[in-house]
Amino acid sequence: MGPFPTTRTTAPKPKPADDTLAFGKVLTDHMFLMNYEEGRGWFNPRIEPYGPLSLDPATSVLHYGQAIFDGLKAFRGDDGQVRLFRADRHAQRFNRSAQIMCMPEVPVDIIRASFDALVGVDADWVPRKAGTSLYLRPTIIATDVMLGVHPAHSYLYFLILSPVGSYYKEGVKPVRILASDSHVRAVRGGTGEAKTAANYAQSLAGQKDAAAAGYTQVLYLDGVERRFLDEVGTMNIMVRIGDEVITPPLAGTILDGVTRASTLQLMRDWGLKVTERAIAIEEVMQAGRDGTLREMWGTGTAAVVSPVGTLGYKGEDVLINGGQTGEVTQKLYDAIVGIQYGRTNDPHGWTS
Ligand code: COI
Repeated sequence: MGPFPTTRTTAPKPKPADDTLAFGKVLTDHMFLMNYEEGRGWFNPRIEPYGPLSLDPATSVLHYGQAIFDGLKAFRGDDGQVRLFRADRHAQRFNRSAQIMCMPEVPVDIIRASFDALVGVDADWVPRKAGTSLYLRPTIIATDVMLGVHPAHSYLYFLILSPVGSYYKEGVKPVRILASDSHVRAVRGGTGEAKTAANYAQSLAGQKDAAAAGYTQVLYLDGVERRFLDEVGTMNIMVRIGDEVITPPLAGTILDGVTRASTLQLMRDWGLKVTERAIAIEEVMQAGRDGTLREMWGTGTAAVVSPVGTLGYKGEDVLINGGQTGEVTQKLYDAIVGIQYGRTNDPHGWTS
């Protein structure tokens, strides 16, 4: 794959200082684009200066939301080398999202080549400070100009890059999570497993309510009984009750998180008891009341491993580990970050 036709910008943007980076506010100088037409497949891969897309107002993605994305990170190691974390797994998940949303898959080798080529062109944008990285956002949108509801025949793949710091303004400090009894994220047979725009649009109302009540994020419960933990929307969720770590199973309503899979693998490597099973909010709240809820954390590419200090549900708050980061949470964070920055060995070959 590649080299791809590349038009370099004549007006490079000033780069922000690493210690001012938040999440996704600054975009780099270039983007990768590629088109798709039914019968022809993917064509015209290219790198261009970063800039606006021109779309007809009747473009189908703007009306019916046929859009998928993924999110992964490139890290500049202490040795100066830039590494992507689990790029192939992200590419496979991207294609799973495409299947769910009736969109064409992109061969994994082309996705990977687009990552490497664009990160190569914008390599100076990979920040250096600890805790920072370059976030990659591959996206596909439906580009048919039509108002009928059916799968489009033409699509645009684009990849954009953003130098980022931590996702939450708290940094890596414990966050406050509200288990919602009024907002639902997904049901089986729906789009909960896909990284699709609508899942994020429909999370905003719950997020707004949670913020108004003083919480950072919403913990969604299953859409049928409103009883079992699903996920947080920006991260998967894990609890440690007694000596067991429990996380909801991949049953079609939650995202198959790459950090989720990575942390489960690490904990199994360490010999911890890890169970993927449906877990009721009442079980977690009761464990919080009786002191057996030792830790709770979220996992995500943007969120990394984020400790949960407070869990709220139906007007009651439980404080977890005195509101402090727990032992397994910290160990997971350190292990993931160590691998990402090439500081420790990478037993499963996750970086490349
Ligand atoms: C990620 O963790 O990469 C996400 O996509 C979550 C959010 C920023 C949308």
